Amino acid sequence: MLDLLLHNARLPTGQVVDIAIDQGRIRGIEPHLAAEAHRRIDLDGWLVSPPFVDSHFHLDSALTAGQPRHNLSGTLLEGIAIWSELKPTLDEEQIYGRARRLCEMAIAQGNLAIRSHVDTSDPRLTAVRALLRLRDDMRSWLDIQLIAFPQDGYLRLPAGRRQLQAALDLGLDGVGGIPHFERTATEGATSIAELCRLAAERGLPVDMHCDETDDPSSRHIETLAAETIRHGLQGRVTGSHLTSMHSMDNAYAGKLLGLMQQAEVHAIANPLINITLQGRYDSYPRRRGMTRVKELLAAGLRVGFGHDCVMDPWYRLGSHDMLEVASMGAHVGHLTGESELLDCYRAVTEHPAAILGLPDYGLAPGCRADLVVLQARDPIEAIRLRPARLYVIRGGRVIAETAPRHTRLSLHETSMLDLSRLD
Ligand code: FE2
Repeated sequence: MLDLLLHNARLPTGQVVDIAIDQGRIRGIEPHLAAEAHRRIDLDGWLVSPPFVDSHFHLDSALTAGQPRHNLSGTLLEGIAIWSELKPTLDEEQIYGRARRLCEMAIAQGNLAIRSHVDTSDPRLTAVRALLRLRDDMRSWLDIQLIAFPQDGYLRLPAGRRQLQAALDLGLDGVGGIPHFERTATEGATSIAELCRLAAERGLPVDMHCDETDDPSSRHIETLAAETIRHGLQGRVTGSHLTSMHSMDNAYAGKLLGLMQQAEVHAIANPLINITLQGRYDSYPRRRGMTRVKELLAAGLRVGFGHDCVMDPWYRLGSHDMLEVASMGAHVGHLTGESELLDCYRAVTEHPAAILGLPDYGLAPGCRADLVVLQARDPIEAIRLRPARLYVIRGGRVIAETAPRHTRLSLHETSMLDLSRLD
């Protein structure tokens, strides 16, 4: 007797199959399965996908927009200033409560893994404690990976180094950084060298906010790649944002891509945030700011798209919908060819799953039975429609359900409109 049998599930390849699930794993995917099951669901040909993965987020600041004030200039630096005002006033329960609401929103959207940076600049490490508790409390439903993030600088903040290490001692999962925010480019490079050494010593992955600026001379990704090689960290290091790459000249960017290949660094773009925070000091034409996703993919590097922010000092909008992120990435990056749109879908599913090192992720026998069923027929249609997440399944158990979206049209005669049906 199986735990769950999904009938008429459409795979991303278009094939319609039955999926057998038992003891938290996918046990079989066949055109027709005639097994007994405790629960059977007829999916009516809707798309089944591995769950969405958000590889770059900030759970500690999520849902704080307007506190204590809104970001009127819309700039990264005003956002950092507002967060610095708010941070000392927050207690552990407030941070935990908001982050938990965000996690529930994420699950409803079919996102079952989040890599969150957590600010270690607060001397009380309040956010670190709150999110460590949340990570453990949510484990049954959602994978949370926590990166120690020295928002106010690893070297620039006098206690930055000590606090980041203390946060790692409490049990965070990876080492972050913010080299472009250190006092000088030299100190930025020093911070990268120290943080990579720390990660190597502790056996942790690295994911740094790196070169989040339009300044083409911000080249910390070069140092990050070089330090990755020096410490033998290939495949375990990620550069987040990398927006200066948008503005670099092609000759330098070409050399840099070769170094990044050698270092096997992963790249994470944050399309919603990059398109709104970058280019703020331009007149016209205004730069888009998103890193060179096409070129990174062509170089064989793993590229994830992150949501980064939902209703916080940097971004007033968002509902933690990774399909909105994929759609924005496609638009901003000129990634609108058929295979490029599929790359955008992979940038919110399998690529970030690999960057996070999620075990047994995927849609094959033996994989964890973590799935999302979408009211769409294929991944490109999912990006187009951002459709209802009909079922979200974690370890073989349905943990969220949403009714299919239909509109009753009353024109000459009454009819039902379903945006996914074109015939
Ligand atoms: Fe970020």
